[in-house]
Amino acid sequence: MTTASHLLYLVAAVTFVIGLHLMGSPATARRGNLLSAGGMALAILVAAAVLVDDGTIGSTALLVLVAGLTVGSVAGLVGAKRVQMTDMPQLVSLFNAVGGGAAALVAFVEVLRADDVLATVGVSHVLPTYLDVLIGALTFSGSLVAAGKLAGKISGNPVTSQAGRVLTVLLAGFSLVAGIVLLTGTGGTPLLLGVAVAALGLGVLLTLPIGGADMPVVISLLNACTGTAVAMAGFVLDSVVLVIAGALVGAAGTILTILMAEAMNRSLLSILLGGYGTGDVDTYVAAAGNVRETSVDDAGLQLAYASKVVVVPGYGLAAAQAQHELVALCKALEASGVEVTFGIHPVAGRMPGHMNVLLAEADVPYTQLQDLEEVNPEFARTDVVLVVGANDVTNPAARRPGNPVSGMPILDVDKARSVIVVKRSMGTGYAGIDNELYTDPKTSMLFRDAKAGLKELVAAVHTYVR
Ligand code: TAP
Repeated sequence: MTTASHLLYLVAAVTFVIGLHLMGSPATARRGNLLSAGGMALAILVAAAVLVDDGTIGSTALLVLVAGLTVGSVAGLVGAKRVQMTDMPQLVSLFNAVGGGAAALVAFVEVLRADDVLATVGVSHVLPTYLDVLIGALTFSGSLVAAGKLAGKISGNPVTSQAGRVLTVLLAGFSLVAGIVLLTGTGGTPLLLGVAVAALGLGVLLTLPIGGADMPVVISLLNACTGTAVAMAGFVLDSVVLVIAGALVGAAGTILTILMAEAMNRSLLSILLGGYGTGDVDTYVAAAGNVRETSVDDAGLQLAYASKVVVVPGYGLAAAQAQHELVALCKALEASGVEVTFGIHPVAGRMPGHMNVLLAEADVPYTQLQDLEEVNPEFARTDVVLVVGANDVTNPAARRPGNPVSGMPILDVDKARSVIVVKRSMGTGYAGIDNELYTDPKTSMLFRDAKAGLKELVAAVHTYVR
């Protein structure tokens, strides 16, 4: 059984690695996800079989195990099936919370199995137990706060206070000292419980001051923390497959966090210190009188007679689920000889790769998608940029200091010859600030829901190119 189980664990670990590799490209990501999920199912089954085989659990415990597995699987499946694409970041955050919390509980259960276990197992077990509880509990509460912020249940703006900063330092100091004491073999379970409480507080206090456009980076970081906590749980349980799964999530999450922080032109430290962009000195407010509104006919005409059009999709496209209407418009334009490409900002929408997934759903070829670095030099020779439901990622205010999007690289749509923006109103985006692109003389606004507006544009373009 031991050899067989280790071989099967190895198979599961290999599926995680290959699955992660396949997730690197949108074309193979679905297959990668399925492969990794299959590997995880295999690992769970083997773990259960091993527990039964070596007599670790009896029939009652097995029943509890199956019941837990069923409840967790059904909740995960229903949650993931029902979630709206736009609510995906909240769900990811909740999954992070569950992963971190479960990892911390694993360490506790191991400690509670025997009296004074922490004094006898040695540093090689106490260290991962301590890190598992610290990172797992911090991730649990931090992810719940992040989910609340993303769902609009807690203010999405940075929440800072002097008392909060002092408390953060005190809790961090306590956790550090407690860790050292635990490593000396003293303190035992009560001190570990203290670490858990401090870590829960730290999760809340560290996440509250982060807000605005920095939230995507935080979600990714919490995801990396979940992976690390799970890897620590693997050390606690002596489970190689758990260590590998956790380490892969931790490493992939860390790389994604660094890439996203770079995409936002932020240092990770400045994000973690929180309150970025607060104390704003920037007071730009869009003057309604300077906004030029356009009609469907004028916008359709402009698009139909352009040589080169770049489409910039954003959160509003996902909210309106207008990807198919957008593709219909692009096809109509291409049929009349217009060159159409898509400019994709790394944090457009509400989750990494949101626009890629949305457009892939409508069968847009990946070759038509251009990322920020590729598309920005193109704008100077673009006749019309069609901005659909994007706001913050096009805001020229990012080039100035003192506002919530300062320093974030943007899509330079204002460098094009003309810009048409499809959105419902002058409403702000995620960062909550006015967009001065809308008062640029070359911008015209088509105030419509993206789905309805694009449908009307398709009809208009057809009348001009017939
Ligand atoms: P946002 O700046 O959030 O702007 C979206 C715009 O869509 C809004 O101004 C809204 O204006 C419009 N809109 C909403 N529903 C619409 C509909 N049915 N039809 C047409 N327009 C609609 O979006 P963005 O430019 O994609 O930028 C993303 C922002 O989210 C960034 O600040 C980013 O930091 C943040 N964020 C990103 C992520 C990730 S990982 N991508 C995660 C969390 C947060 P109206 O109300 O006037 O229509």
